Amino acid sequence: MNQPDPDAVRATFTRVAHRYDLANHLLSGGIDFRWRKKLVRLANRNPCSHVLDLATGSGDVAFALQRGLSSNPKITGLDFCEPMLIQARKKRNQINLDTEKYPFIEGDCLDLPFSDNTFDLVTISFGLRNLADREKGLSEMYRVLKPGGRLIVLEFSQPYWWFRPFYYFYLRLILPWFARFVTGDREAYLYLGTSISNFPNRADLCKELEEVGFGQVMVKAMTFSIVSLHYGDKA
Ligand SMILES: C[S@@+](CC[C@H](N)C(=O)[O-])C[C@H]1O[C@@H](n2cnc3c(N)ncnc32)[C@H](O)[C@@H]1O
Repeated sequence: MNQPDPDAVRATFTRVAHRYDLANHLLSGGIDFRWRKKLVRLANRNPCSHVLDLATGSGDVAFALQRGLSSNPKITGLDFCEPMLIQARKKRNQINLDTEKYPFIEGDCLDLPFSDNTFDLVTISFGLRNLADREKGLSEMYRVLKPGGRLIVLEFSQPYWWFRPFYYFYLRLILPWFARFVTGDREAYLYLGTSISNFPNRADLCKELEEVGFGQVMVKAMTFSIVSLHYGDKA
């Protein structure tokens, strides 16, 4: 499967939504907290008043931004899988955050329900890999950013060559079985391995960002380049 099928992606996240956070923390060995921290540190370089967290899922990036951004912006989370959003809203309500300032709305990254030039910062974490049309998704992100606004992408990447055999052994053979114990769903995590190996490497993703108009494109590899942070500005 080269292009993810949106219905299959939505069905997958619907099945794992209730266990998504637990699976994330266990299967990454808790390192996901560190990756989000780095994203927030990068986001904090520029003040912002309105942030959009795409493919927000259960909202962990939105909550990390809420805690970490010194400019205290409005943060909108968007996802096309309602069961994931239910988890996000539940967490928001548990910590008594304002529903107007931190809305979680249903929508499609390929057809964003916002006017041009709305946000100072758009983030997407472990979501770009799942889009059926990455170029369309990136163009939409560019469109809704204000001039001078910034996109930050946190996503799996191709690991350093010497680490690949260990990594793909873990992804293809160990992780799906481990995931079955946590979520009851082995298939969902078989999809993870396939989608990661189909995803472009760091240099190619930089080119894709530039092709839709982003400037000052940079990338930072983390954890043997298992994941990377890409960022770019709208001129
Ligand atoms: C791996 S989860 C990431 C969730 C969260 N950002 C995180 O870092 O934990 C991917 C999310 O992308 C969402 N997604 C995939 N394609 C989408 C699309 N076209 N529009 C909106 N959400 C999408 C899925 O529903 C899912 O919640």
